[in-house]
Amino acid sequence: MPNAENTTAPKGLWARFNAMPLDSAPRTITVAVALCLVCSMIVSGAAVMLKPQQEINKTLDKKTNILKVAGLYTDGVDVEKAFSAFEPRLVDVAAGKFSNAADPETYDQQAAAKDPARSIALVNDPASIKRQAKLASVYLLRDDADQIERIILPIHGYGLWSTLYGFIALNADGNEIYGLRFYSHGETPGLGAEVDNPKWMAQWPGKLVYGEDGSVDIGVDKAVPAGIDGSKYHIDAIAGATLTSRGVDNLVKFWMGDQGFKTFLDNLKKGEA
Ligand SMILES: Cc1cc2nc3c(=O)[nH]c(=O)nc-3n(C[C@H](O)[C@H](O)[C@H](O)COP(=O)(O)O)c2cc1C
Repeated sequence: MPNAENTTAPKGLWARFNAMPLDSAPRTITVAVALCLVCSMIVSGAAVMLKPQQEINKTLDKKTNILKVAGLYTDGVDVEKAFSAFEPRLVDVAAGKFSNAADPETYDQQAAAKDPARSIALVNDPASIKRQAKLASVYLLRDDADQIERIILPIHGYGLWSTLYGFIALNADGNEIYGLRFYSHGETPGLGAEVDNPKWMAQWPGKLVYGEDGSVDIGVDKAVPAGIDGSKYHIDAIAGATLTSRGVDNLVKFWMGDQGFKTFLDNLKKGEA
């Protein structure tokens, strides 16, 4: 005879779970929740563990892109060694002068742009970036006579789906473009992502940023605007990606203009940066 006390006694959780039919709803839900918990712990653990390596890879990729835009990248090159050719500096964008307010080796311009203490909110914001870091990281390349040969400036702005981050390299006159490339964006492959297409990027070298009156004449457009010398100042927009192209036009004009690096480049020419 079964003992009445034993059959009514509360069972442990595990025993109650085991006693459930395999296809019962509570059992299915319990298994699903447990599985989700275990998986999320594995994924978040992996994300935390891999974060330092991701940061190292991000920095390496940025340096590779700076080398590429400056024409110093070759396959198999030791990126860290080649990168030591650059002189990283910080520029106070509003003053247009070099700044020693932070360490250029460790300064993170993207992080500074999000920090209200180290950035300004933009009222006139054609590049759609909302906030602009007060200090910008620039990279100088000097020749054997220690004269500036190339200036690499960070640029970013909104395309269609994403913020595009890149660099523009200028020759020593601070006007002729040596190259332009983006190292991060989320535009559509085959459409907006054609900003990475070497054929499209090949349009930039040799073009000029500033017209004779100092205005920013470089532009990305479907057609050459009236009054502009296309051979010097025009970049063809990407077919089927007018909105990304417009974003690039806006961001280049912004960063090369008065709110961007124009004052710095003018000062550099006068030896007053
Ligand atoms: C799925 C999808 C992805 C798109 N991605 C982009 C893009 O990355 N950049 C862009 O400018 N236009 C993109 N477009 C196209 C735009 O919606 C728009 O049609 C285009 O910019 C107009 O360019 P066009 O005047 O050269 O045709 C995309 C459209 C679709 C349907």
